[in-house]
Amino acid sequence: MGIETSCDETAAAVVSGGSIVRSSVVASQAAVHHPYGGVVPELASRKHLEAISQVVFEAIDRSGMQSSQIDAVAVTQGPGLIGALLVGFSFAKAYAYALGIPCVGVNHLEGHIHSVFLDAVFPDFPFVALLVSGGHTGIYHVTSHTGCELMGQTRDDAAGEAFDKVAKMLGLGYPGGVEIEAISRTGNPLRIQFPRPYLDKADSDFSFSGLKSAVRRYVETHDFKENIPDIVAGFQEAVADVLTFKLTQAALSRQCGRIAVVGGVAANSRLREKVMASAAEKELSVFIPSLAFCGDNAAMIAAAGYHNLRAGHVCSLTDDVYSKVMTLQHP
Ligand code: KG4
Ligand code: ZN
Repeated sequence: MGIETSCDETAAAVVSGGSIVRSSVVASQAAVHHPYGGVVPELASRKHLEAISQVVFEAIDRSGMQSSQIDAVAVTQGPGLIGALLVGFSFAKAYAYALGIPCVGVNHLEGHIHSVFLDAVFPDFPFVALLVSGGHTGIYHVTSHTGCELMGQTRDDAAGEAFDKVAKMLGLGYPGGVEIEAISRTGNPLRIQFPRPYLDKADSDFSFSGLKSAVRRYVETHDFKENIPDIVAGFQEAVADVLTFKLTQAALSRQCGRIAVVGGVAANSRLREKVMASAAEKELSVFIPSLAFCGDNAAMIAAAGYHNLRAGHVCSLTDDVYSKVMTLQHP
């Protein structure tokens, strides 16, 4: 059983063997946070509390299994919003205790990386993974289910955060990435050239705050309301170019023939297209989860938890959640 409540999705899933999804239930709070242009932490905690029991029991029902057949509970321990994490984590500890089974705390980023194992075709180790979500943007050299090395990460905004902030700037709703992708379809991505912040071309670090400022400057100096489709298409094109370039370059630098893209922004079809085109050109195999497993979900947490449990990582009733981890790096 996987449980996820780190941000604005209350999710539960039943997964066998770390990869076969028996059920996956995601209750999104997007409509609750939409008017505010971002997640309101207190509202998120309250909504998780209202939804958690129903979501967990629905996941069990849909899996066709009984509670007594659940071997372990895996739950997101961090990083994320503390109040939101506490709801899932406390529920999971109590649920595992009541059933007399182990509870495994999972790092949310490790969960996202495990989303590539939920589809029928998944990568062998090692592979190079681009993790692009609302809270994190980084490139990892993944060597085993419990081993990875951080190659580079954003020095400021995460890619998803940049999508959300640009959307808010233009008066579009939350989550920004979804709105920007939809509106971009009617825009010309080449009319407004926004900067491609590659930083030092040789490393795998990112920076999106300059790009976000460039959009802000454009908005402040133009009659932007007429141009929203071209602005967002140009912005999306710049983000996708940088992410694709850095991912491909990271794989080549490690002479690694397999790449993956995970996290909420991996749902972006322009990014998917660009990564696939670049991989074809460089003869790399690409692994991108199906849309249901790009954004926050509990199946990926169950998958990561399965391997953590096998490695003996079990949490105790006194363990607590954590809000921040700057790196995800195992020996
Ligand atoms: O992984 P995720 O669900 O939650 C975090 O762990 O942060 O990612 C959420 C982020 C949001 O910033 C959202 O705007 C972005 O993913 N996102 C997208 C798309 N769908 C969600 N960004 C670009 N294009 C999309 N289609
Ligand atoms: Zn996430």
